[in-house]
Parts: sequence; structure tokens; C-alpha cells
Amino acid sequence: MKGIVLAGGDGNRLHPLTLRISKQLMPVYDKPMIYYPLSVLMLAGVRDILIITKPQDRQLFEDHLGDGAAWGIRLTYAVQPEPRGIAEAFVIGRDFVGDDRVALILGDNIFYGHGLEHLLARAAARDTGATVFGYFVRDPERYGVVTFDAGGRAVDLAEKPAEPRSHYAVTGLYFYDNRVLDIAAALVPSARRELEITDVNKAYLEAGALTVEVMGRGFAWLDTGTYESLVDAAQFIRTLEERQGLRICCPEEVAWRRGWISDADLAGLARPMAGSGYGTYLMSLVDEDRRKGGQHARSPE
Ligand code: TTP
Repeated sequence: MKGIVLAGGDGNRLHPLTLRISKQLMPVYDKPMIYYPLSVLMLAGVRDILIITKPQDRQLFEDHLGDGAAWGIRLTYAVQPEPRGIAEAFVIGRDFVGDDRVALILGDNIFYGHGLEHLLARAAARDTGATVFGYFVRDPERYGVVTFDAGGRAVDLAEKPAEPRSHYAVTGLYFYDNRVLDIAAALVPSARRELEITDVNKAYLEAGALTVEVMGRGFAWLDTGTYESLVDAAQFIRTLEERQGLRICCPEEVAWRRGWISDADLAGLARPMAGSGYGTYLMSLVDEDRRKGGQHARSPE
């Protein structure tokens, strides 16, 4: 399965922060925002990832993240000249996806919760159809909204409805079979001149090929598009990390726990960052593992 991180967008709501710097490179407490969606794809077992940016940001992302080899993954880059909609990711990424399945995640979405890896694995294991996630929110009118019947089956999808029929927003994480390429290619722009991901999901719904998993209230799904939500997300991450001493969505750690990079590789990544809490954390993973006999300690539940 291939992965795409969509990290374009204007970031208008974060001006002047995002006048010159991509939103997805903004810090969320101790790491750049894009580390969070990248880690989620890696937790889903995806190692071949396309990062789509605005043209002017591409080099900065490439300078920062490189070809991914240091994290045991493969990163490639493409640009979206204008934010013409989330579904454009599959027009831009068509050759990259080839005849494979694909997971798409928005570059400003943060997911956290017990059992996330399990939920991701289940979605990634489905050979056909699409899987999206419904999440109960206070303000569904800001999102794509999914309605369920009494049996819990998704029956309706609507993009930013004025009068939402449910409180379940569709999150910015989507798993598709290869049909998505043709579905996206056939889309026409909506009234707001975007290729709508909700239209893609509707095509799967109408074909009886859409699974909507509810991401329960024990999960956090945060977006980081405003000053307030950016600070809130940082504070959330800080609170958990300080309490547990574990870092959230640390791609180096994910790669190491999955055995994609060795102890020596992780120590090599930690060394240049030894002056930071992040660097000492990476080093502590290796040290603790050695003390326990080098079994690549399981992540604490
Ligand atoms: P939006 O919520 O539309 O936010 P934005 O980043 O464009 O910022 P603003 O609304 O403040 O101008 O986008 C959500 C995420 O999807 C974000 O990470 C940017 C990304 N995106 C693209 O990369 N291309 C697009 O065409 C769209 C619509 C979004």
C-alpha cells in the first residue's frame, strides 16, 4: 500500500505565521506538524509515501525529510500549484500510486488514542473498497458529515452541510483501493471550485464499497488550522508526553520499533539532536532496550 500526505493549502487562518513557511512545518510542541501524519501512515505499515506541497515549499520539505531512508521509508515529493481540493491528491499522485492501494492523510491532522495501530491495521488489511473514519464532534457543519442507520451502516455523506444530520465528521485519513484513481480523475470541481473528497467517498458509498469505522470518544482527532487549535494541540501533546515520558508520533521511534531501522541507526539519528529532549528520548530508547536484552521493547500499552 502507498501513502500520500497532503501538505499544501494556503494556511490563511494562520497568517502571518504561514506567509512564508508551510503550515505543516509549524511546531506542534516538540516536532514539526508533518511528523504526526507521517507517523500515522508508518503506524499503518505504509513505507512508500508521497508528500504533496505547495510549489514554493517543496524544497524545504525535501531538505528537512530527505528521501526517508534514515527512517527506513521512501519519501517522494510532488506539488499542488493551487489548493484545488483534497481529491486532487489522486490526480497528482496517479503515477506514484500505480496499480497499488493508497492511504491519504491530511498534513495538519493529528490522531492519538489507545488501539490506533489496530484500527489502522484493520483498514490497511482491507483489499477492496474504501475505509474512512467517523468522529463525533461538536461542530459537524465544518466537515464532511456521515450519517448512520440504526444498524450502524453509513447511509449518507454531506460536505459541510448547513444542517448536519449527525455529529460524525469524516476525519482526514482515508484508505482506498486502486479505483480511487479513476474516481478522482472523473470528478468535476464543486461550487467552491475544489475536487471534493466527499464526492470520492460518495462514489464508494453508492457502490456499496465504503466502510466507515467509528473512531470512538477515547481517541483524539485534532486539527491545527487556527491559532487556538495549534496551541491546544501543542498543549495536549505536551501534557501527555510529560506525564508518560513517551513521545507521541515520533517517526524515528515508529521506524525502530517496527524493525525498519537498527539500534545503531536510531542512535545515529539521536546524536545530532543530543542537546534536545527529543534527542535524549531517542537515545534513551536504545539504552533501555539494551538493558532489557535488546528485544526492541514493545511500546507500552
Ligand atoms: P484546509 O482545512 O482547507 O486548510 P488550509 O491548510 O488550506 O488552510 P486555510 O483554510 O487556513 O487557508 O486544509 C486541510 C489540509 O489539507 C491542510 O493540511 C492543507 C491540505 N490541503 C491541500 O494540501 N490541498 C488542498 O487543495 C486542500 C483543500 C487542502
